[in-house]
Amino acid sequence: MANTHRLGILLSGRGSNFMAIADNVAAGKIPAEIAVVISNRPNAPGLEEAQRRGFDARLIPSKGLEREQYDRLVVEALKEKQVGLVCLAGFMRLLSPYFVSQFPNRILNIHPALLPAFPGLEAQRQALEHGVKITGCTVHFVDENLDAGPIVLQTAIPVLDYDTPETLSARILNEEHRLYSEAINVILSGAWRIEGRRVIRTEIGG
Ligand code: GRF
Repeated sequence: MANTHRLGILLSGRGSNFMAIADNVAAGKIPAEIAVVISNRPNAPGLEEAQRRGFDARLIPSKGLEREQYDRLVVEALKEKQVGLVCLAGFMRLLSPYFVSQFPNRILNIHPALLPAFPGLEAQRQALEHGVKITGCTVHFVDENLDAGPIVLQTAIPVLDYDTPETLSARILNEEHRLYSEAINVILSGAWRIEGRRVIRTEIGG
């Protein structure tokens, strides 16, 4: 049986958000356990780190597979591990309607901008090029569209005159590491409901 307190982390690269979540789980700041870490890309540093830390770390390569064919393999692994909350952490793939239907309102993603501004790749560069004075990061539920589901939490971060994509990304990333764990805790608390596109915080059990 799926259990919300069993997390499945999906990543494709560096894995710093995964590491921040894992650190907070280890420190008792997130009341959950990481049941499995899955990468679609071989040599993802995040997957190597997951192995090093002793997690069940699996490479499920996506190359050459159709979207749903691939997603069925991932969903099978998540179910085998009784995962109840899926956390995308730099997972560079859109999910199929099939995947989303298997974990309704149980898939989170983090994006380095204040959605719906600057979805997709290089959100920090997009923000700089547009000239916004405030950007940030967003944790949201995942549906089959790109960076599109209901928003759980956001943090605003000022854009500074001397920012480059690198300096801005670094400041956003710091906040991402805090915000993702906070959002996971909101979802694990059960004290929320969705009204339309809005994630509304409720009393515990409300
Ligand atoms: C982060 O900026 C996240 O917002 C985006 O992809 C990046 C992943 O970084 N979705 P990391 O692999 O967690 O270090």
